[in-house]
Amino acid sequence: METQTASEKMANAQDFLPINGTDYIELYVGNAKQAAHFYKTAFGFQSVAYAGPETGVKDRASYVLQQDKIRLVLTTPMKSDHPISEHIKKHGDGVKVLALWVDDAYSAFEETTKRGAKPHTEPTTITDEHGEVRISGIYTYGETVHMFIERKNYNGVFMPGFEEWKSEYNPTETGLLYVDHCVGNVGWGRMNETVKWYEDVMGFANILTFDDKDINTEYSALMSKVMSNGNGYVKFPINEPAEGKKKSQIEEYLDFYEGEGVQHIAVATHDILATVKELKSRGIEFLDTPDAYYDTLLERVGNIDEEVAALKELKILVDRDDEGYLLQIFTKPIEDRPTLFFEIIQRKGARSFGAGNFKALFESIEREQAKRGNL
Ligand code: FE2
Repeated sequence: METQTASEKMANAQDFLPINGTDYIELYVGNAKQAAHFYKTAFGFQSVAYAGPETGVKDRASYVLQQDKIRLVLTTPMKSDHPISEHIKKHGDGVKVLALWVDDAYSAFEETTKRGAKPHTEPTTITDEHGEVRISGIYTYGETVHMFIERKNYNGVFMPGFEEWKSEYNPTETGLLYVDHCVGNVGWGRMNETVKWYEDVMGFANILTFDDKDINTEYSALMSKVMSNGNGYVKFPINEPAEGKKKSQIEEYLDFYEGEGVQHIAVATHDILATVKELKSRGIEFLDTPDAYYDTLLERVGNIDEEVAALKELKILVDRDDEGYLLQIFTKPIEDRPTLFFEIIQRKGARSFGAGNFKALFESIEREQAKRGNL
């Protein structure tokens, strides 16, 4: 029986790495111009900044998009003999950088590398006429990187090296507000060392654990542990495949991403019904949930503000932790490889997660996995 709430467990985190939130998420993609169009049109992100040949960056193009506090950077290389091309060849489109907003990028690097982090970017100060941004970076699971971004002395659109991107095509936003959490998939037997890495190197606390008894079907299973920083603004759940009769969906991800990486990015909204309705009308495809899920919903989660019929129509999931409830829905993978997908989440008091939704997600992915012939 759990004796501490998620909030109490967050207080176990160490304070040597203060983090204000997610600064940006950078994806390496095969065609950043077209990907930017997708994120604008389908998700409602706004054009913010650009770097590329026209701005003096010869080897790549990067588009910066924003919606409220969520910032995406989409980067594509210009030539095949570029490290980013190697990344895309191996992994397909995917998340390269989970950048964290800190007050001191130099101290973040020093504190994490002295605890064993593998350096990616030595502390560097970059400047332009809008001020300075101090950056550093370390590797986490797979080829994924945590950059530390300090921008208190900067008032430009994004970062030195980028110019404002003024577009005449500006679809409206869809109500997305901030990055709630980003989930990583790690390989067989790698869960505990990854959890320990987040505890020792980043000072995070393990606020929730689901084992293969909690999350399983007749065929397959997974394990998951949720890591959080002290203020709860940054949460990194970690999944590992578990043994079952058939292939775990985490293993399917590892096969197609060809390694460990980010499984999903969860973005928050204050009105999940309106946001999901809008995203669907713009072509975003969501995972399905059987109607039977809603028959006993209120018995499982107690009183909620929303109408069950409205949730059922859009297939939104509801779950509870010991502090409140949360509503969630998951997109299908947003590329052809069954790798990265998005989650839309609305929190009503809950700061953690519930096993019921996790299991419902697991079962929906397994149905899709079977359709792909990978179960
Ligand atoms: Fe999630």
